[in-house]
Amino acid sequence: MPTTTATHPPAEPSASAIQKHTGLFRCITIFFLALIVIVGVTVMAIWLVIRPKRLIYTIDNGSIHNFNLTNNHLDSTFNFVIRAHNPNGRASIYYESIEVSVAYNDQNVAFNTLEPFRQPTRNITRLETRLVAQNAALSGSASRDLKRERSLGKVELDVHVKAKIRFKVGIWKSRRRTLKVLCSRVVVPFSSSKKFERTDCDIDL
Ligand SMILES: *[C@@H]1O[C@H](CO)[C@@H](O)[C@H](O)[C@H]1NC(C)=O
Ligand SMILES: *[C@@H]1O[C@H](CO)[C@@H](O)[C@H](O)[C@H]1NC(C)=O
Ligand SMILES: *[C@@H]1O[C@H](CO)[C@@H](O)[C@H](O)[C@H]1NC(C)=O
Repeated sequence: MPTTTATHPPAEPSASAIQKHTGLFRCITIFFLALIVIVGVTVMAIWLVIRPKRLIYTIDNGSIHNFNLTNNHLDSTFNFVIRAHNPNGRASIYYESIEVSVAYNDQNVAFNTLEPFRQPTRNITRLETRLVAQNAALSGSASRDLKRERSLGKVELDVHVKAKIRFKVGIWKSRRRTLKVLCSRVVVPFSSSKKFERTDCDIDL
């Protein structure tokens, strides 16, 4: 093996040394390319196996009680049955916090929180919640609209759900993510003799 010592004048790198360098460089390049391909294929395989599906939310039932709208201020109780569907076969969901609010004409009128829970894979959970509006201020126009809807026997509300969730697959737990569910134009009848129409919600995750 040719070695360079201080006694020899610095020699031009020989052709075989260059060849050796090129060979080493090629080896390293191939190694890293192979590594990238292996990591990529592994990630893709895991992704294909887990493939998180979109969560599905609907409002299955809703009712209004103790309605009182006086001087643009609203007192009322809203009951909702929120249907949360986890269609994933491998990912269960930890709901760490859940907030539900109800809005009329973009004005929040009532708010409630739900108990944290764990949702298994391929599971449907019905969340029942009662939201109480207490002296909630409405604008003059919102108040007029609400009075008119009241006289027609039903009111159109927006229901928002905001939750902090984590997915769990095997022993791996995802970081905490914010799930936003918007159920708009939920038509709630004042009389329980009228049928409630199930309403689909939009998911933002
Ligand atoms: C919806 O809620 C109302 C009022 O609580 C109740 O009378 C009715 O039976 C419920 N409907 C369904 C389909 O659960
Ligand atoms: C409705 O609310 C007003 C103002 O808070 C109150 O004076 C009135 O007694 C309430 N009406 C009923 C039927 O509860
Ligand atoms: C969903 O999970 C809850 C809590 O583990 C369970 O009580 C319920 O029966 C499950 N529902 C379905 C449809 O699997």
